[in-house]
Amino acid sequence: MAHLFEPLTVRSITLRNRIGVSPMCMYSYKDGLSNDWQVVHLGARAVGGAGLVISEATAVEPRGRITPHDVGIWSDAHIEPFTRVTRAIKSNGAVPGIQIAHAGRKASTNRPWDHNGSPIQPDEPDGWPVAGPSPIAFNDDYPVPHELSVEEIHAIQNLFRDGARRALTAGFEWLEIHAAHGYLLHSFYSPLSNHRTDDYGGSFENRIRFLMETVKMIRSVWPEKLPLAVRISGTDWAEGGWTVEESVELARHLMKEGVDLVDCSSGGGVSGVHIPTGPGYQVPISEAVRSTGILTAAVGLITNPEQADAIIRSGQADIVLLGREMLRNPYWPLQAYRSLKQPAPIPSQYLRAF
Ligand code: FNR
Repeated sequence: MAHLFEPLTVRSITLRNRIGVSPMCMYSYKDGLSNDWQVVHLGARAVGGAGLVISEATAVEPRGRITPHDVGIWSDAHIEPFTRVTRAIKSNGAVPGIQIAHAGRKASTNRPWDHNGSPIQPDEPDGWPVAGPSPIAFNDDYPVPHELSVEEIHAIQNLFRDGARRALTAGFEWLEIHAAHGYLLHSFYSPLSNHRTDDYGGSFENRIRFLMETVKMIRSVWPEKLPLAVRISGTDWAEGGWTVEESVELARHLMKEGVDLVDCSSGGGVSGVHIPTGPGYQVPISEAVRSTGILTAAVGLITNPEQADAIIRSGQADIVLLGREMLRNPYWPLQAYRSLKQPAPIPSQYLRAF
């Protein structure tokens, strides 16, 4: 029976334990270029003992940023600053991961701490026109997205592929495609945001087509020996929306295209829905998806070592990802080893403190 501290090998990559840092936007960059903040922030979490450190949603084009301050990977100039991040993570014992993303109709907003993250309208100085599957705004505050043509869909898929290639050059060893939280790829597979009548809308197969084709293109440039993951919103938590059953079916399709792991999040696609949050509330989604045989990550209000260990031991997930808890405490993994009485990978420099 696997446990929290047992290494996990996926393709040629071995994580020293099953604890990962969930991707979290820092909104702290200029022109999408990584910087000292990201090196220190993610490097610290590798020092803190995580096995996997996934850097935040990284835009494949400027229009795909959530805010003007997001990090990106849309040009070769973005590669070199990221090499400092991957080195800081890897040299401290963790596997460097990246989440590549396109914000779709939820792009062009303020940072959460500026004007409550409200949308920036296209005619405002820092704003830009947003795009999505159908001309349906996220809510009344957001602009109506431009309905992407098939040619534009293909162009964005090329941008995802190019982003993956650059991530490889920058030294990332784990790639996650962001297909959750109401951003572009999720907005295509959810029937609530996608009302198209062409090959990219309507049936389940059509709604997942954008994601599936993107996966195929990425797998063609992302080496066989490296893991590929997809973060999904396992349910829209809304009447008539995407369901856990569809997520399970999607996982079967993803597995066939060489995806190794599904990172099981939820929501974000429908404004104002009630989400029944509580400790580990998304774990059942991970458990359902894992029944297909694909590896999964569980995320969402996982905060204590016993809870995290039980998720792995009971076979509900292969990895646990922690978000906010890792912001509060980068040393959570080292302390978890200690509290569950396991030998911890404490950096020699810190031995006198543990
Ligand atoms: C997030 N989350 C998130 N998710 C994602 O897929 N890409 C991202 O870039 C971000 N950005 C982000 C920033 C911040 C500040 C927070 C708090 C969250 C969601 C995050 O990865 C995680 O799924 C949730 O926070 C739930 O896990 P916790 O925080 O309950 O452990």
